[in-house]
Amino acid sequence: MKHDPAGVGSPAGEPRPKAIRGLEGLALDHVAIAVPSLEEAGPYLALGLLPDGPDEVVADQGVRVRLLRAGGAAIELLAPLADDGPVARFLARRGPGLHHLAFRVADLDAEIARLRSLGASFVDPEPRLGRGGSRVAFLHPRWTGGVLVELVTHA
Ligand code: CO
Repeated sequence: MKHDPAGVGSPAGEPRPKAIRGLEGLALDHVAIAVPSLEEAGPYLALGLLPDGPDEVVADQGVRVRLLRAGGAAIELLAPLADDGPVARFLARRGPGLHHLAFRVADLDAEIARLRSLGASFVDPEPRLGRGGSRVAFLHPRWTGGVLVELVTHA
């Protein structure tokens, strides 16, 4: 087979997302950090990250979100809305810290189907609603080396 670093012509079918044809790879959309309160943003602002818009409540995930711009990606601070959501449980179990990485995909449903066909497992059976009207799906950390990975398609 001829040299084909991007896997475009792989006979194994679609090894990569349809949108990813170059060598840049999947775009990092954001890194999410779980915090008990959004007031924890102070050190990140001191580092030079820029606040982006008002805080947003994402009811489907039980969190209040503060977005901080970091070049082409963003840091999302996630604070739980109540004591019983997934982020509250994460904080109780592991304390504040890195919660997930999110990668941008063009067609979330197609990506879910493609990755399921490769044996991926997802946290939820169906996509959820994310910040700013986006749709998101979380890959189970046991499929991604212990890190929770979100796929996001922006509205
Ligand atoms: Co996220």
